[in-house]
Amino acid sequence: IVLEEDTSLPAATRIKLSNKTVELGDEAKKGARVKVYGRIHRLRVQKHATFITLKDGYGFLQCVLAAGPLTKTYDALTFAQETAIVVYGEMKKLPAGTNAPDSRELHVDYYKVIGAAPSDAEAITNKVSKDQDAWEAQMLDARHLVLRGENASAVMKLRQYVELAFIDTYREMEITKVSPPAMVQTQVEGGSTLFKYDYYGEEAYLTQSSQLYLETAIQSMGDVYCIEKSFRAEKSLTRRHLSEYTHIEGELDFITFDDLLSHIEELICSVVDKVLANPTAAGYIKLLNPGFEKPSRPFMRMKYGDAIEWLGKQDPPILNEEGNLHVFGDDIAEAAERKMTDQIGRPILLTHFPTEIKAFYMQKDPSDPRVTESVDVLMPGVGEIVGGSMRMWDHTELIEAYKKNDIPHEPYFWYTDARKYGTSPHGGYGLGLERFLAWMAGQHSVRTCCMYPRFMGRCKP
Ligand code: 4AD
Repeated sequence: IVLEEDTSLPAATRIKLSNKTVELGDEAKKGARVKVYGRIHRLRVQKHATFITLKDGYGFLQCVLAAGPLTKTYDALTFAQETAIVVYGEMKKLPAGTNAPDSRELHVDYYKVIGAAPSDAEAITNKVSKDQDAWEAQMLDARHLVLRGENASAVMKLRQYVELAFIDTYREMEITKVSPPAMVQTQVEGGSTLFKYDYYGEEAYLTQSSQLYLETAIQSMGDVYCIEKSFRAEKSLTRRHLSEYTHIEGELDFITFDDLLSHIEELICSVVDKVLANPTAAGYIKLLNPGFEKPSRPFMRMKYGDAIEWLGKQDPPILNEEGNLHVFGDDIAEAAERKMTDQIGRPILLTHFPTEIKAFYMQKDPSDPRVTESVDVLMPGVGEIVGGSMRMWDHTELIEAYKKNDIPHEPYFWYTDARKYGTSPHGGYGLGLERFLAWMAGQHSVRTCCMYPRFMGRCKP
């Protein structure tokens, strides 16, 4: 059978499934005749009709092909998941009591297959391996196909709305977007996670953070932010570490540490509000993380020193990586941090980390020089999503800090100059977009929060 379009029907208007204004037919009236380009997401062949759930990247639509000429073509007999197709027909109200992704369905009168997929439905595999690691690797190898799934693509779409909410918030806050380089010759967060490469015969790195560059922009551009990739040669495989991640960084001039903390809290809450206020984005959250609730304010503020005590006071105490009680000066490692965050169950601004365990550029607390004016934001389920601090703004102190940290100061001449020409108290932070998204979308790992995750051992597809 070869299908022919019935030319006596009204001409079909092309729509995307985001368009909800299409006239729907019912017993009383005819609906609009439309055509939709998309792919077969699900296929159900029944005696009286074939049901296609069509996806076009904008939504899902149930399409009904009445048994007969429409279902007897070679194409129809070889319909498969992911077959690219254009369907024509009348849009109708979904009959009461039926279940479909939308409140409407398309009564197909004509279609054309554009790109067939193998009718072996296993092409996009759901074969579940018993070995969790093997299964994960398999999903990552097939990431290009996994992205076609409803959940994986919902995370990616939500990611866009989250990013837009940051951009909107920054615009409202009058913070200017800048775009620092990714190819650099200075480190920010320690030599052990630098990706080195050959830059025309010189040693260079992929940037770990744009912070130092942002610090050179505030003098003429006011408060600034950037959304750029950062790179870390992390040598451990955890569910929150990537080798390449999207880093949202802000830098604010003429502020106090308290201003910085308030700003970070305001930023996070504004982004959450904006995402939830957008019906499409809120729909993705409902699908991915139905229990999500916006955090109550003010966030809990806790000093590092008090956190160390808190860890020891739990029953049983939460121990450090060596299995001992935490003492002042210890890093609070990922496992302990997560236990603490999950137990407290709300966002925490953890502040005043000891100088020894923090980066060279951090301003010391004037009332206690053992600690820095630094902050990590910890979220239940994920742990640290933000790291920030006030910056050392005294020239001499900064030169000393390079020495103390064995960092040659020459490559930092441009950074140091900010302390020479009109220095000021300023501070900023970096937020990992994938971690933020993992929190909002209820993802177990940051790996499902990027399109193609990069981590130790994985650089493809
Ligand atoms: O705490 P970090 O290392 O801070 C900085 O890079 C500062 N220079 C930022 C600044 O002040 N402008 O990183 C900041 C955030 C972390 O809280 C985390 O969310 C994210 O970046 N991050 C990572 N995300 C995924 N994979 C990794 N390997 C990450 N390392 C840091």
